[in-house]
Order: sequence, then C-alpha cells, then structure tokens
Amino acid sequence: MILPIYVYGEPVLRKISEEIDLDDPNLKQLVADMFETMYHANGVGLAGPQIGKAIRIFVIDSEPFKESYPNVRIHKGAFINPIITKEWGDDFVFGEGCLSLPNLNEDVTRKSNIHIEYYDENGEFHDEDFDGLVARIIQHEYDHLEGRVFTDRLSQIKKMVLKGKLNDIATGKTKAAYKTVHK
Ligand code: NI
Repeated sequence: MILPIYVYGEPVLRKISEEIDLDDPNLKQLVADMFETMYHANGVGLAGPQIGKAIRIFVIDSEPFKESYPNVRIHKGAFINPIITKEWGDDFVFGEGCLSLPNLNEDVTRKSNIHIEYYDENGEFHDEDFDGLVARIIQHEYDHLEGRVFTDRLSQIKKMVLKGKLNDIATGKTKAAYKTVHK
C-alpha cells in the first residue's frame, strides 16, 4: 500500500522515534508498504516518521544511483532499531534531497564511513560497515529517527536563504509528485 508522506513542518518529523518490537506481526507488511511508498515517490530511502510513525525503522535502496554513479554499492534493505556506533573518515559533501522536503537539494557534509548495528524485518541482527553513497543514505535516514532533517545541518545563512522555500513546503504550497501530509 502506498502511504502519504509527511513533509517538513509536521511535528512527527521532530520526534525522537521509539524502538520497534521485532515480534510485531505487522512488521513485514510495514516494510513492504515502506518500499512501495519509497519507489512510488522515486526515493532511495524512507524513514518511519516520514509516514507519520515515530518508530525506529527505515528502508533504503541505492540502486537508482547507479545511473549517475556506476560504482555505487547496491544495497537494498530495512534497518530496524539501528544504532550508528561509529562515524569516521573524510568529510564528504553531497547534494541531498528528501521526500519530506520536496524540490529541495542542498550540499550536506558528513563523514564518509559508518559502522551500524541493526535488525532486519526477519529479526536477524546485522553488524556492518558502509561508506560512500550507501553510508550517506543511511546517515540521512538515521537523522529522521532522531527528529532531524538534512536542512538542520546547513549553515545559519543557508537556512535563512531557504526560509521561504521551507515555509512553502510546510504550508503545502510546494507540490510533490506524490501524496503528502501537511498543514
Ligand atoms: Ni529524508
């Protein structure tokens, strides 16, 4: 089922998400719905708060990056109750977008490497290193679970420049190519 996407300005995007019960019988359906919603909106990642649920889950699929970045590692999967235990490496600048911030793309600086522990929808534990664009997607989605969006990481000046655009998103003036929830 395709779900509507909550956009900037919605309080759920500012909540610290809560842990998920891995035995929840609805978990697999939730993951399937999140993938369907993400693909429908042409995204590479989608987190719980973006579908109105402040719960610690996100899905990613880096495959669409392959066209522009042929060497990208392809990783598709759900990350449940994830913990980024380490971030290291060089500062890496990349233009980020977000389904909760339609029509916005801004350079964000993050570390190049991460270590993350998480569960998948089968309750299986994973313990992995990621770098490059997959690390970037994960860092972006992980921020959503902490109540952050990528514009929080921009300079004060940049945030001021974007104020009007952010306000347009929050008030529903910015149209997205998918169904959204806004004021
Ligand atoms: Ni996002």
